[in-house]
Amino acid sequence: MPEVSVALLPGDGIGPEVVAEARRVVDAIAPDHGLSIGWHEHLVGGASIDAHGTALTDDVLEACAGSDAVLLGAVGGPNWDTTDPDEPRPEQGLLGLRSGLGLFANLRPVRPWPALYEASPLRRERIEGTDLLVVRELTGGLYFGERGREPDRAFDTCVYTREEVRRLAEWGFRAAAGRRGRVTSVDKANVLETSRLWREEVVRVAEGHPGVALEHMLVDNAAMQLVSRPADFDVIITENLFGDVLSDEAAMITGSIGMLPSASLAAGSLGLYEPVHGSAPDIAGRGVANPVATVLSAAMMLRYSLGAPEAADRLEGAVDAVLGAGHRTPDLGGALGTREVGDLILAQLAG
Ligand code: IPM
Ligand code: MG
Repeated sequence: MPEVSVALLPGDGIGPEVVAEARRVVDAIAPDHGLSIGWHEHLVGGASIDAHGTALTDDVLEACAGSDAVLLGAVGGPNWDTTDPDEPRPEQGLLGLRSGLGLFANLRPVRPWPALYEASPLRRERIEGTDLLVVRELTGGLYFGERGREPDRAFDTCVYTREEVRRLAEWGFRAAAGRRGRVTSVDKANVLETSRLWREEVVRVAEGHPGVALEHMLVDNAAMQLVSRPADFDVIITENLFGDVLSDEAAMITGSIGMLPSASLAAGSLGLYEPVHGSAPDIAGRGVANPVATVLSAAMMLRYSLGAPEAADRLEGAVDAVLGAGHRTPDLGGALGTREVGDLILAQLAG
């Protein structure tokens, strides 16, 4: 069996706990799908700051670039919180990986589980049938523009090139063609110049996909529509910061941000997979974190980077079955621990 190599970056807080479960379940099914996985563990985020004084070393970036995929837990925590621009911050690890590996397309699917409708803050009739995909631009915009700080003034710049918009939009349209055929492009074209360029370029990309319907929506309106009629969305394409905010909002439709996976993809098959949730320092080390988002991220890794879509389907099916049987971690009102949920998924896969 050819060995594929996965860089495993547990990171901080609950990261190591949730990543351990994802690794166990992937190892359990990999051989059935002709895969042998070599896991190579590295430090990132606060853990790397403590060891090396920086959130991402060149060696780790290089190791990730040479892997078939990267599976990440979470970064950050109160130990490293600072507003001093000269101090290292854990998030720089994540941002360094995104730009260093060219991970421009961030996919965040949102599909509430019927078994968990009651966990959502929204009424059941609002969320029923929701199945949307946020495709967030991840290597441009305010996150990577020129920035600066003076004693009483600070600035961040938002820059987008046509090419950055084009490749992201292209991803969104291709995804929509394999789904319900609708793209909602979210921008702030009534105010921002970058949004006007975004709109022009998206329209151009749409011409190459006549089977996909395109609508434009201003970001403030999108924030409202997402909670009032989430089931109407199919694929949402948007720039980096809007995607950051809207994907957290969309995540809450499922009742817990502990449920949602994400994939960050480069131009080739390399991708970084991580749960949407953060490092949750308040519950770290207690073995109660919900591992579902990381397990589902590992499923996306099997699908998009490791060429094993059947393994991904199987893993997602096992998670559905475990949730459907009523098994819950505390974030969903249950009492199960992280490892117990991992055991249940393993049992489901074996059965
Ligand atoms: C996310 C996170 C990151 C982001 C932070 C940790 C830098 O919120 O992945 O959504 O803003 O992109
Ligand atoms: Mg975020």
